Amino acid sequence: MCGIYSIYSKENINIKSFFESLKELEYRGYDSAGVALVVGSRLKVFKTTSKIKSLEPKLKKDIKTSLILGHTRWATHGTPSILNCHPHYHNGLYLVHNGIVENYDELRKTRYIGNAKLLTETDSELIACMISYFYKTTHSLSKSVNKVGRILKGSNSFLCIDENNLGTLVAYKNKTPLFFGLKDNGSYAFSSDLNAMKENLNKYLSLENNQIIEIKNNICTLFDNSYEPIDKLLVPYKLEVSKSLKNKVSKDSITYNEIKSQSKLIPEFFDSFPGVFKQIKNIKKPKNIVIIGCGSSFNSAMLGKLYFEKVSNIPTEIFRPSEFTFFKDNKKTLYIFLSQSGETADICDLLETNKEYFSNSLSIVNNFDSRLVNGTKNYVNLDLGIEKGVAATKTFIGQLVALYLISSYFKGQTSINTNTFKKAFRSFFSVEKDIKKIAKLFFRYKSFYILGRNYTYPIALEGALKIKEISYIHCEALLSSEMKHGPIALLDKNFPILYFISTDKTTILKEISNLYEIKTRTNNIVLFASSSILNKLGKKFLDEINYIKIPDTQSELVPIFFTLSIQFLSFYFAKLKKIPVDQPRNLAKVVTVA
Ligand code: M6R
Repeated sequence: MCGIYSIYSKENINIKSFFESLKELEYRGYDSAGVALVVGSRLKVFKTTSKIKSLEPKLKKDIKTSLILGHTRWATHGTPSILNCHPHYHNGLYLVHNGIVENYDELRKTRYIGNAKLLTETDSELIACMISYFYKTTHSLSKSVNKVGRILKGSNSFLCIDENNLGTLVAYKNKTPLFFGLKDNGSYAFSSDLNAMKENLNKYLSLENNQIIEIKNNICTLFDNSYEPIDKLLVPYKLEVSKSLKNKVSKDSITYNEIKSQSKLIPEFFDSFPGVFKQIKNIKKPKNIVIIGCGSSFNSAMLGKLYFEKVSNIPTEIFRPSEFTFFKDNKKTLYIFLSQSGETADICDLLETNKEYFSNSLSIVNNFDSRLVNGTKNYVNLDLGIEKGVAATKTFIGQLVALYLISSYFKGQTSINTNTFKKAFRSFFSVEKDIKKIAKLFFRYKSFYILGRNYTYPIALEGALKIKEISYIHCEALLSSEMKHGPIALLDKNFPILYFISTDKTTILKEISNLYEIKTRTNNIVLFASSSILNKLGKKFLDEINYIKIPDTQSELVPIFFTLSIQFLSFYFAKLKKIPVDQPRNLAKVVTVA
């Protein structure tokens, strides 16, 4: 959470393009933002509790600077306010920070802080105060940062400068990502992701844990975790037109564009199966699989379990990292770490603190330059282009495809024909107009149930998450078979039901009975079902409810149609309720604090 973007240059920095880059990081946190600029021999600071774009007019048009620290915040310590907004200042030092100081309370009472007056509620100011403590004796900013880095617990990356020595900038990284780049014009850049620094980027480096970069009078030194200067080759940067940009569509919403871009990306991903098979060619069919993930990634893990058990006959367990149970006999198990960002602290911390235990591991990510990829033996890159909408959309369906392909691989399949599915998937995007109508009928309700069973239950959970996070509507996913065991008590005309009827032949009749039981209590139903099921229900029944027709394709892939429907529905709910769909309140895209 939080985004850092900074430039150190010999020339005047192009302020407009600086802000464009900082805005690229807004998805990482957007409750406040700030910059510190070296102007002449002084530092000027500008802050806002609104969006980054509100900062730009605060700067004079002809302002000249060759060093800027920039930050966009997701609050962990202290409310989003101007006071708590970065850059933070303590005793001459300015600092921007991304992460969390886990031993904050303990450090607050140490000699490093002493009687110093901390003005904000943040853990970031504490870091500045600690650096200042050591700086008094070391007179070296990088040395002081190294000492502080050894004491801090948690995940912390930060940049700092001393107002009395404006030629020096020091950067430190631990766990939460920090990239260093060299631009074509010789200027240095620091960024929380590679994408934000891509403009005129020549070479870059993803800093390793506990590394420090010091830029002093234009000379750059990289220090390892023992504070020894080291040489490291920077990686040449190849600008690839981002898949998300290539697939840009009309509406002014990142999330909407990401939902729509799937009509091209998902069929392409199915076609790229030889590439996926190649990435996992060293993995033998395991005896057991354990999949670990958070949020949407946990929901896709749940469908992954069904794929591995039903398609490739491998017993599979799923865990959220915070609930993981260590088994004695783990050698025959393949551990799959599922995370679109590859940076989620809960899952990365579990992996990194138990590396030996998870020696047979595979990560599935949409970010190959990430903590999870670094920590696992093998990885599969979804390669769908960066996802910036807070709601996981294309990456969720991408994860389902990856899990399906991997399960087919373990079944021994060498090729996959998904032509029927792909055709149906592309045409299914016309469902948007029907969903829009349904959204208009239902967006004022305060609570929903979403029901599903076997292949559709994980999608019900995912749908409930989508509706909560971007539409601010309470929505609870339930197994349709569980309704009669209690939850049905809540049904009345103010409690609509979204019902994802599974196409599994063994349960269709039971599903229909459950639907009848609900229909006798309310007509406030939106049914999502395949045409064979709709035909069974008949016209009279369907006339009294709302329904969306789901294509009849192979049952493992049908969940993808339900997912797309619910993505559109939550988007239109949010639109109608005038909610900032791309950046809903209290959230951030990448959860880099545990
Ligand atoms: O990057 P990850 O897949 O590890 O993220 C996990 C969750 O934080 C994420 O899926 C979250 O639940 C999304 N906002 C859901 O839309």
